[in-house]
Amino acid sequence: MNKVFDINSLARETVRNLVPYMSARRLGGNGDVWLNANEYPTAPNFQLTEHTLNRYPECQPATVIQRYAKYAGLQPEQVLVSRGADESIELLIRAFCEPGSDAVLFCPPTYGMYGVSAETFGIEQKKIPVSTDWQPDITAIKNNLDRVKLIYICSPNNPTGNLIDPAALRQILELARNRAIVAIDEAYIEFCPQHASTQTTTRWLQDYPHLVILRTLSKAFALAGLRCGFTLASPDIITLMLKVIAPYPLATPVADIAAQALTETGIRTMQNRAAEIVSNRTYLQQSLNNLTLVETVFPSETNYILVRFTDAELVFKSLWDQGIILRDQRKQPGLENCLRITIGNRNECEKLVNAISTLSNQTQPIKETENP
Ligand SMILES: Cc1ncc(COP(=O)(O)O)c(C=O)c1O
Repeated sequence: MNKVFDINSLARETVRNLVPYMSARRLGGNGDVWLNANEYPTAPNFQLTEHTLNRYPECQPATVIQRYAKYAGLQPEQVLVSRGADESIELLIRAFCEPGSDAVLFCPPTYGMYGVSAETFGIEQKKIPVSTDWQPDITAIKNNLDRVKLIYICSPNNPTGNLIDPAALRQILELARNRAIVAIDEAYIEFCPQHASTQTTTRWLQDYPHLVILRTLSKAFALAGLRCGFTLASPDIITLMLKVIAPYPLATPVADIAAQALTETGIRTMQNRAAEIVSNRTYLQQSLNNLTLVETVFPSETNYILVRFTDAELVFKSLWDQGIILRDQRKQPGLENCLRITIGNRNECEKLVNAISTLSNQTQPIKETENP
């Protein structure tokens, strides 16, 4: 009998060896409190107004581009829209990195798709761990720039929740001048409204032609299911990215809803949502701080908090069994016993606090009875 041909042998070696990104949806779980994907807890309501589904959509829908440009305070030529910020992470690699010779650099612990996208394309990854204060290690970055064409910096960072010091960002931009693109991932920027106008790097685009900013409608705009993200950069960079993007990256209904989300009313609604999440974040941080299983609640500028527990495995599994799904971060460098918790609505936050509080009481060390 002929040996069955293994189709895997035809696949690219990098793909055979690739460990795919374990998205929250892929990890599964059976719950009614989903706090593992940094989504907004409730669904916004939109009506479709475009019904011409017999026609191909515009590659870069003009209304969406114009409205996002206005929202970001930029010109339409500085904006590209894509299938989520994830597609933009990949487009940058496709436009700027040559497999086998170029490298990307990023600073773990950080968002997983920088590594997965680089690996898919056979691009070397230089992983420069953050310093103890979760800021980039500038000296190490400087010493590792050989062959680096693209640097990803996530600010506020996923999963640690902190903003990157603007002075450090400027140092990285200076180190990369004339040699590499610096992509600052601002997926969560709307959740630090008190800082957003000073922390966003959009105004720096005029000073740094190699700066790229990544944004999304998945977080504060509550549209993770829409798959719509933005790249903000110089018109030259946008033109290069348009060379490698799919011919029709956005379905007509996606562009329709994105345009509605970016009206003045849509933006005001988004800001109210972000304010509600920030208020729930404060509630959650304060409530968790008092519990015995909780070691550290880290500060956050995002719609999630990172928490170090005395026994993260116990908390993760016990809540999982109760249908409260969190994101395990224990395998990330420096994040032993850490779980990431998305800020849900107030009811979800209360359920979470109650569950951890009950567990804390159950696992309270039994005090030795004093000798008479
Ligand atoms: C830091 C960061 N960047 C990008 C993304 C992807 O965003 P999108 O849903 O627009 O692809 C995420 C999603 O969780 C993220 O955390």
